[in-house]
Amino acid sequence: MQDIAYSDQLSAKRSALQQLWADTLPASLQDGYTVLPAPAPFGYRLRMDYVCSDDRFGLRVRKRFYAIVDLHECHLIPRSLFPVLRDVYAGAREQGIPDYNVYHNTGFLRYLVARRNVRDEWLLSFVTAEQAYAEQMAVAAQTALEAGAASVWWLLNPRHADLSFGEPVAHWGAEYLPQYVLGRTLHMGPNTFFQNNVEGFEQILRYITPYVAGAERLIDLYAGVGTIGICLAEHVKQVFAAELNDESVALAQHNIRLNALEGRVVVVQADVANLLQANRIVQGSAGDVLVVDPPRAGLGPDVCALLNDYGPQRIVYVSCNALTQHIDCQLLQTRYELVAAQGFDLFPQTYHCEHVVILERRADA
Ligand SMILES: C[S@@+](CC[C@H](N)C(=O)[O-])C[C@H]1O[C@@H](n2cnc3c(N)ncnc32)[C@H](O)[C@@H]1O
Repeated sequence: MQDIAYSDQLSAKRSALQQLWADTLPASLQDGYTVLPAPAPFGYRLRMDYVCSDDRFGLRVRKRFYAIVDLHECHLIPRSLFPVLRDVYAGAREQGIPDYNVYHNTGFLRYLVARRNVRDEWLLSFVTAEQAYAEQMAVAAQTALEAGAASVWWLLNPRHADLSFGEPVAHWGAEYLPQYVLGRTLHMGPNTFFQNNVEGFEQILRYITPYVAGAERLIDLYAGVGTIGICLAEHVKQVFAAELNDESVALAQHNIRLNALEGRVVVVQADVANLLQANRIVQGSAGDVLVVDPPRAGLGPDVCALLNDYGPQRIVYVSCNALTQHIDCQLLQTRYELVAAQGFDLFPQTYHCEHVVILERRADA
């Protein structure tokens, strides 16, 4: 939506969200309902996945999977970074590294993925379809380090599925990239989820802090590398976090040690539905506040039913897809009422928007 004024983008998001939630928001919340603007409407993204295909380096055309726009500038990351990445790509091609054909599923270099932190240090991943060209890859990695990358990874994705993640083959420079959130340092890896707009996400963490502060236990479900639990740990007695992806769990454990929070923050590797089904977190539920931050698909009916059974006092639901969050909230109404809601525009120039709702267990439920 880069051709639409940012103020118009914001009002479009606000009215879409207002319409969606009109039937669920209590009248007292409708008037003051807001979408908080992004701290920076351009240059904010911390991760960009650039496709390398048929001498093109850029992004896919929306809904036309095989069409790649050959980019010469990108406004979603700091302007000075894109030409550096493009040069690294060009240098790799000059080394004789072939790129990929998305249509025929042939070739070698599929993606260059850049991740950066708020201090503009960056990590670069080369995602390839095969484990070949080792010498040339080493030269390309060295070029990236000389261009300023703090960390370079070679990831292998030999599958047909067009993913910009993969099995690590090698890395050069630092193993992880530090990220700085509300005064905490968290390490990110090449394959693990991390919030894409940290300044925006800090606004969310500040917004939810009063709803979490003083809890006996903060239950952080869909925890990624532990960002929410670790950043809010100082406000609660204990944090219990759960995450499915084993690389993220390992990094969450590493981040707990990095922040000297051993014993105070615990993370387990688990599927949220299985965890709730097995009653593994129910003990001590009276003083629990639960934070959920699921993927775009939302919690789904099974997890909502299990949460209704478990019944923590408060649920803080952070979502990158207000549509599925809305459906989930209808299901959670069995025991919960919505007491606060706010949009956060973490994704300017796109139609995406982060949405947070606070649900309180009803006195009669
Ligand atoms: C939107 S991210 C949120 C991460 C984290 N809360 C943060 O702030 O960085 C969703 C996370 O849920 C994890 N996940 C997806 N399905 C899951 C499941 N069934 N059980 C547990 N975690 C899951 C993903 O691996 C991902 O790390």
